[in-house]
Amino acid sequence: MRKKIIAGNWKMNKTAGEGEALANAVKRELSAETKVDVVLCPAFTAISAVSQAVSGSQIAVGAQNMHWEADGAYTGEISAAMLRDLYCRYVILGHSERRQYFGETDESVNKKTHAALAAGLKPIVCVGETLEEREADQIESVITTQINGGLAGLTSAQFKNVIIAYEPVWAIGTGKTATPEQAQDVHAMIRGLLAKLSDKPTADSVRIQYGGSMKPGNAAELLSKPDIDGGLIGGAALDAQSFIEIVKAAADA
Ligand code: 13P
Repeated sequence: MRKKIIAGNWKMNKTAGEGEALANAVKRELSAETKVDVVLCPAFTAISAVSQAVSGSQIAVGAQNMHWEADGAYTGEISAAMLRDLYCRYVILGHSERRQYFGETDESVNKKTHAALAAGLKPIVCVGETLEEREADQIESVITTQINGGLAGLTSAQFKNVIIAYEPVWAIGTGKTATPEQAQDVHAMIRGLLAKLSDKPTADSVRIQYGGSMKPGNAAELLSKPDIDGGLIGGAALDAQSFIEIVKAAADA
């Protein structure tokens, strides 16, 4: 049985003070949640405040990006050790917004994945096709390239600490959700790819989240599918009540 994992990707929202308030509201309801792994991923500037707010609870903190080098002349960048220093346990890598706007490639995702694991962070590696790619029947080839490129060179032991997020780009922030069947099909395909990169028991242990307009109204049905092991939540994670309801749906799934 894979433990469900619900992560809130706050993107470029919430100051430190606002993030602290949101984290406190989530903590009031979910402080003792043990059936589901709950992760909050604020902007860099709010990580410290959120870490302090959730300390002593079951809620974990993650970042939204990092650099692959340990230190050096990389103006504006943040290392894995800096994130660990602020009690981060997770880091989102290769989000489609980073691929689309900031030149993130499978090669950089791969370097970051190795660096995150080496530093003891669990990477949440994002993959997903655009609408154009879906309509051109390229889902399998696009996802295969992203998975094989982003996760190249990992050992089976390392795979166990990786989380994959399947986020169809056309479903992000659009209100359009993949149907549970569409998502399940891609999740099963991803698990098959993971088995080829490692082995079947390892692939069966890796958690694959769905992301893209997940909200309280559709979470339960998505999370009922056999290969959907959680959610990476954007908009709905900015509202404490919505996020809490999604976590509760995961606990009941
Ligand atoms: P929305 O939930 O706002 O569609 O965003 C999904 C996402 O990109 C999470 O990383």
